[in-house]
Amino acid sequence: MPNNPTDDREDHGLMPLKVLSVASEAVPLVKTGGLADVAGALPAAVAPHDVAMTTLLPGYPSVGKVLGKGKLVHKWASLLGQPARLLSGTIGKHKLLVLDCPAYFAREGGPYGDANGQDWTDNWQRFAAFGRAAADIASGKVKGYSFDLVHAHDWQAAMTLAYLKLASDTPDLPAVMTIHNMAFQGHFDAKVFPRLGLPSSAWTMDGVENYGGVGFLKAGMQMADIITTVSPSYAAEIRQPEFGMGLEGLVAARGSRVRGILNGIDPKVWNPAEDSEIAARYSHRTLTRRKINKRAVEGAFGLEQSDGPLFTAISRLTWQKGTDVLLEVLDHLVGMGGRLALLGSGDKAIEAGLHEAAARHPGRIGVHIGYDEGLSHRLQAGADAILVPSRFEPCGLTQLYGLAYGCVPVVARTGGLADTVIDANPAALTAGVATGVQFDGVHYHALRAAIDRVMALYEQPRKWRRVQQNGMKADFSWEASGHAYAELYRELTGRTA
Ligand code: ADP
Ligand code: GLC
Repeated sequence: MPNNPTDDREDHGLMPLKVLSVASEAVPLVKTGGLADVAGALPAAVAPHDVAMTTLLPGYPSVGKVLGKGKLVHKWASLLGQPARLLSGTIGKHKLLVLDCPAYFAREGGPYGDANGQDWTDNWQRFAAFGRAAADIASGKVKGYSFDLVHAHDWQAAMTLAYLKLASDTPDLPAVMTIHNMAFQGHFDAKVFPRLGLPSSAWTMDGVENYGGVGFLKAGMQMADIITTVSPSYAAEIRQPEFGMGLEGLVAARGSRVRGILNGIDPKVWNPAEDSEIAARYSHRTLTRRKINKRAVEGAFGLEQSDGPLFTAISRLTWQKGTDVLLEVLDHLVGMGGRLALLGSGDKAIEAGLHEAAARHPGRIGVHIGYDEGLSHRLQAGADAILVPSRFEPCGLTQLYGLAYGCVPVVARTGGLADTVIDANPAALTAGVATGVQFDGVHYHALRAAIDRVMALYEQPRKWRRVQQNGMKADFSWEASGHAYAELYRELTGRTA
């Protein structure tokens, strides 16, 4: 009998493939970025393909708040020096395991750093312990649980694969490593190596050693049977130094074992026809109702009421996201008759620059510094266009939400942004397939020219509406990607559907 509760299929006598998904974030429990959306949506995406997924998360305070107490299923006397417990629970149909280790995870501040954004100095220990626990669970050491495959997300979960494949006390298991962002690698000083509890033979270029230190993501990539990135373009880009960030050689060496599977979006969470966060619900046929939502955004951001183009950006304010370049172009955007309602937080200099821009252009630029899920929905529903000038973007979700809501994405041609938006060039407009505006190179002139193109298109309401409708009709649901992940799991386990 399968010992971990799975979906309805088991009631009908079929044995689903059992996958342990290991992630540091998952909605609705903990989120700092798109990883959480993806890890939260993946179980439901693969369920129709006879895959029963359980997600392992660290026991951050927010996780306990949503999940409640959970059921105790295992205890560790010491996980890299700290006692820990494993709790089980569910959110809807999503089965969860939570690593309850107060010494590592019950902290005020963010999952990776304190309230000032300073990384916790023991992150190596926290996430090595997380990986060690995941390897134990995946390999059947926790009574009542067994799995056919483990799927680790990003550097925080990557050590799972090192413990699975390198530690002598864990049997091998097929393993997938998904890279959501190569910029975060979990690179630590060599002196932590002896404390990881791995055999000394793991200290090689083929193991966890990376440029003289310990590389968590590197180790996961080295040990994975298949590495996936969250878009096909990013899988190709990380072969180059500019995007590979030191790991391009490893990516190239792993050859066809590196693949891209595009993220989907969860239509239950992001659907303008059902979104309870927004002032007026609408579909691609009732797009005019967006006007009510636009008024609501103007009100919330202290902007002048106008039918002129209203831009938004919903973003971490970091170098990756190109928000420094966005800042440079704001005077031009306003000069052209545009307005901006921005939601984000991050780099203090960019935050200060945005406040200054808002003060320079009262009623034209509104800024909300912080994190607000409901407001992000209202912005997608009320703004005309969303700016995503990322220098690199493994997939990107806000442009997908923009497409689904008729908030036309204006994106840099990179990674998942290149893969998901069809540029409104003359040919695409004539063919009636355009869904947004793309530009090459994240610098002032390129973004300025893209904004000018948006303004010109906006002046042609029929064409604009067509672009909105094309985006809204495009299918970025999880269906295709859920199928692709399930196929991958089957390929690695040798189990047919
Ligand atoms: P990344 O994960 O690199 O930050 P993505 O585009 O994949 O980029 O995902 C970002 C996610 O975080 C989206 O769901 C987006 O709506 C959300 N988000 C980003 N900043 C904010 C914010 N300040 N408030 C609310 N949601 C935000
Ligand atoms: C990362 C990437 C982003 C991607 C998200 C989910 O945070 O920066 O591009 O959409 O992960 O995969």
